[in-house]
Amino acid sequence: MKTITNGFLIALEGIDGTGKTTLCAALAQAFSTTYKLITTKEPGATELGKLLRHTLLHKEVPVCDKAEFLLFATDRAQHFNQVVLPHLQAGGIVISDRMADSSLVYQGYGRSLDLNTLQMINDWAMNGRNPDLVLYLQLPAAVAYQRMKARNIPLNAIEQETALMHRLTEGFDALVAPRDNVVTLDAQMSKEELAEHAITIVTEKIKAHAVYAQ
Ligand SMILES: Nc1ncnc2c1ncn2[C@@H]1O[C@H](COP(=O)(O)OP(=O)(O)O)[C@@H](O)[C@H]1O
Ligand SMILES: [Mg+2]
Repeated sequence: MKTITNGFLIALEGIDGTGKTTLCAALAQAFSTTYKLITTKEPGATELGKLLRHTLLHKEVPVCDKAEFLLFATDRAQHFNQVVLPHLQAGGIVISDRMADSSLVYQGYGRSLDLNTLQMINDWAMNGRNPDLVLYLQLPAAVAYQRMKARNIPLNAIEQETALMHRLTEGFDALVAPRDNVVTLDAQMSKEELAEHAITIVTEKIKAHAVYAQ
């Protein structure tokens, strides 16, 4: 197994229905024979996160916008402490299905909370460890919505807000535009094309980043 000094952190981002979970599985399959690799997600990767995920996605009790963000940030702090940072320190690859940018987009662009404040709290929760690579799956909101309906899974409280989905798409586009750790992928490609494309990018980025130790 190859290890990478300080590990390699990949976040998959995009609105619901863009193919993050599908791509996460394809990347894991491609790289887990060579590297120590874990796939994980936000929210809900830890015991605490599972409790928070239920509250966040089902909204059975009132949750104001700031509390919503702070619950995501709480999940993130526990996730980094318990899962992400230890695996990176051990020289592995971590692929997270959503991460900090989802909060900036959903609670920042979506709910109009101050982006600088959210960024500061995210950085604190993550001990300043930003992703080495963000793969942003870009898809028109209407196409994403059709895919989610076709899944026959009840749409959760956030997904039901379709006007919000359009704002989120615009938010992601605006957020990633100036960033150099983001690669935007056209999520209208087939699953196979998308996986192939993403595998090529990840391979190149790891090579550029890593000092290997066998
Ligand atoms: N590249 C793709 N082209 C067409 N459909 C896709 C693609 N990737 C995923 N899907 C389908 O779209 C739906 C949402 O995919 P999923 O991976 O669950 O997205 P997300 O995790 O971003 O919500 C699933 O039914 C999945 O099979
Ligand atoms: Mg998913």
